[in-house]
Amino acid sequence: LPLVRVALLGAGNVGAEVARILLEDSEELGDRIGARPELIGIAVRDVSAPRTVDLPQELLTTDAEALIEAADVVVELTGGIEPARTRILSALRAGKPVVSGNKALLAQHGPELHAAAAEAAGTSISYEAAVAGAIPIVRPMLDSLSGDKVNRVLGIMNGTTNYILDQMDSTGADFNDALAEAQRLGYAEADPTADIEGHDAAAKVAILGSIAFHSSYTIDDVYCRGITGVTAEDVEAARDAGYVIKLLGVAERVTAEAHDDGSGATAATPTSTSAGVNLRVVPTMIPRQHPLAGVRGAFNAVFVEAENAGELMFYGPGAGGAPTASAVMGDLVAALRRSVAGGPAVAPSFHAGLPATNVDDVRTSF
Ligand code: HSE
Repeated sequence: LPLVRVALLGAGNVGAEVARILLEDSEELGDRIGARPELIGIAVRDVSAPRTVDLPQELLTTDAEALIEAADVVVELTGGIEPARTRILSALRAGKPVVSGNKALLAQHGPELHAAAAEAAGTSISYEAAVAGAIPIVRPMLDSLSGDKVNRVLGIMNGTTNYILDQMDSTGADFNDALAEAQRLGYAEADPTADIEGHDAAAKVAILGSIAFHSSYTIDDVYCRGITGVTAEDVEAARDAGYVIKLLGVAERVTAEAHDDGSGATAATPTSTSAGVNLRVVPTMIPRQHPLAGVRGAFNAVFVEAENAGELMFYGPGAGGAPTASAVMGDLVAALRRSVAGGPAVAPSFHAGLPATNVDDVRTSF
């Protein structure tokens, strides 16, 4: 079989698992792809830092640029905006497909990355791993649902906060104890602020909303409220009333209409939503009998409501090294199959330009 050279940027939780899979399974993957993926190097900041997986020392390098230059395909799992952005753009401009798990980057600079991929022949940018860990949601929405009309994407998109809220609900723990346990188990991002303040989920809402509505949204279009204000008393009161509190990410089509404040009184100044897409992350009371209420621990669940398909639920591990590496590998195999076949990458189109209507009082109905 011919060889295809894979450069890996980053050897954190997910990167180390991707390296392990590539080293262990390269022969079998080769049969599926029609070319054998060879991991030619792993770019890291510090070659002697401790790793979650034992990696061959000779593969580690601090020279990411030289590694990208030598590769046929680039897997970026470093996170953060720079230098990831510059490196991905240079790989795409050199005609190399890129697989990335970098949700912060996709949620901030998605349009620029997609444009760079569309301009250079034979390249693509794939990012299944950026949303909801192992759960296939990005590609099903880009491909399988591309002939339907999505009206709403809604779900639990952050495992850490779901674990925290679940602990608070099932044991009566307070927020800080539940957060400490989530960190001990390795669910939380390096800086847990991104999880508990809702920014991680907001990035995913921006990415999924862009795909669902063929428009380009960034994280700045998402109204975002995290769970730091949720107390043990709130959780208990919700339970007594037959609800459970979950941090929901929502991207939904809204029509232009005035709506009242739900108080029953005629509002003097009714709030109005303008037509477009509302993107938000908010702690929400879910009826206990709703399927989202049964999503426990660090799992994620995303509903996609489409005109013809109806209601679809995507459920599974939303965080963790090996589960997220599975999503990376799926993208990598798909990108390499396209390269081997010489076929053009299918570029998603973001054209409809439905405006983001960033209002904070939209209620979620179940
Ligand atoms: N910290 C994230 C989560 C990992 O808890 O869901 C995946 O983005």
